Amino acid sequence: MERLPLHPMPGTIILGAQWGDEGKGKITDLLAERADVVVRYQGGNNAGHTIVVGDEKFALSLIPSGVMYDTVTPVIGNGCVVDPAVLLEEMAMLSSRGIEPGRVQLSANAHLIMPYHRKLDAVMERYLGKQQIGTTKRGIGPAYMDKFTRQGIRVQDLFDPKIFRQKLDDALKDKNKLLTKVYNTLPLDGAPIAEEYLTFADRLYDHVTDTSLLVANAITDGQNVLFEGAQGTLLDIDHGTYPFVTSSNPTAGGALVGAGVGPSSINNVIGVVKAYISRVGGGPFPTELDDEVGERMVEVGGEFGTVTGRRRRCGWLDGVALRYAVRVSGITEIALTKLDVLSGFDRLKVAVAYDSLEARYTDFPRQQRVLFNCHPVYEELEGWSEDISGAREHDDLPKAAQRYIEFVEELAGVPVTMVSVGPQRTATLLRS
Ligand code: GDP
Ligand code: IMO
Ligand code: MG
Repeated sequence: MERLPLHPMPGTIILGAQWGDEGKGKITDLLAERADVVVRYQGGNNAGHTIVVGDEKFALSLIPSGVMYDTVTPVIGNGCVVDPAVLLEEMAMLSSRGIEPGRVQLSANAHLIMPYHRKLDAVMERYLGKQQIGTTKRGIGPAYMDKFTRQGIRVQDLFDPKIFRQKLDDALKDKNKLLTKVYNTLPLDGAPIAEEYLTFADRLYDHVTDTSLLVANAITDGQNVLFEGAQGTLLDIDHGTYPFVTSSNPTAGGALVGAGVGPSSINNVIGVVKAYISRVGGGPFPTELDDEVGERMVEVGGEFGTVTGRRRRCGWLDGVALRYAVRVSGITEIALTKLDVLSGFDRLKVAVAYDSLEARYTDFPRQQRVLFNCHPVYEELEGWSEDISGAREHDDLPKAAQRYIEFVEELAGVPVTMVSVGPQRTATLLRS
């Protein structure tokens, strides 16, 4: 592998262009070699970002993927929702594997995931029955609900036991009514929750800071800052396939709000795009393959959730959704991942439009209904039979694989600057 290209820094957003699990962890880890600060800006431990370093595999849910380098300050921004027990466990896991988590910085303004959020997530899903979203049941939606109804408890509240207890009791009055009267389940007792969370406070104290200020100072000092998205564009609460979405903004706008920086801090937006597409949980999926081709993507691609172990639904690359992702986030370049998984298919398909009874859509349809009923219009490309996982230069790739990459570029209208052909850092081709 050649040297990493000099990305115009300081601010680079790395975000998922599909329904998550595109390989954001791998790409962030790769680029973090040249970063000073890596910030997670939204989501919580619904995310599962995998990093492979040599023979070792790490699955991170909250701590930014830059943590592998001791030169990087990993930051959990104000836009995240944080389950403190999970954060402490993740830090302990890293520590036990020789990675110093002492550098992790946590925004005082991030919201806490509380036990009633997890419980509500589970019962709300159960009550949805067939309409289930298929959430990760980590309490993400209910925690963001409280943030937006201004009933949330923030990280900074942990350090004022009186205020914390007051806020907890106020919240529980409401939540226990919901749990018992609406969802027919047992109420929660405040005392053990307060006791547990106040022990977290002691353990987290040294990590908590004004992360917006930290990032601003880094940028002023000319440091390189990466903003690592969780989930993906089509799971965005505003731009995704609502209601089958997560409760935050993985798109580029979310990075600004969720880290507390302005748009002038951003020079580059890298869209991470899997060479095919997957989704986990419910919701429309025009290019989904319910056949042996999809099965093969699951098997060869190891498409099982990092967080919940659920089988991911797989299908052909969706160019309509890709162009949409480029538009809503202003993606400037693409990191194309898991190209190796497509080896061995005779023909490859990429959706370039959707057909419905009424119309042909080349832009992502405004009406959600269309996504459920449309038929993708495919462009067929030649496949390749060679194992490409050892390729390190564009020219090492078979012509058909090169053509596939070029096709993605033409479709997206932005260059593919990185191609990933395996989970390891070294299994990456850089293109100028
Ligand atoms: P994220 O949520 O976007 O960070 O992605 P995940 O980590 O949930 O899922 C991506 C999976 O694919 C992980 O198991 C990675 O180790 C693996 N992976 C990443 N890039 C590649 C690649 O280019 N080829 C293959 N075969 N696996 C990859
Ligand atoms: P990473 O960062 C894939 C999906 C869930 C569900 C919906 C809402 O690893 O790409 P939530 O628990 O967020 O309320 O669930 O969003 N989902 C993900 N799918 N990758 C993720 O994260 C996801 N995080 C949430 O499966 O459909
Ligand atoms: Mg993932």
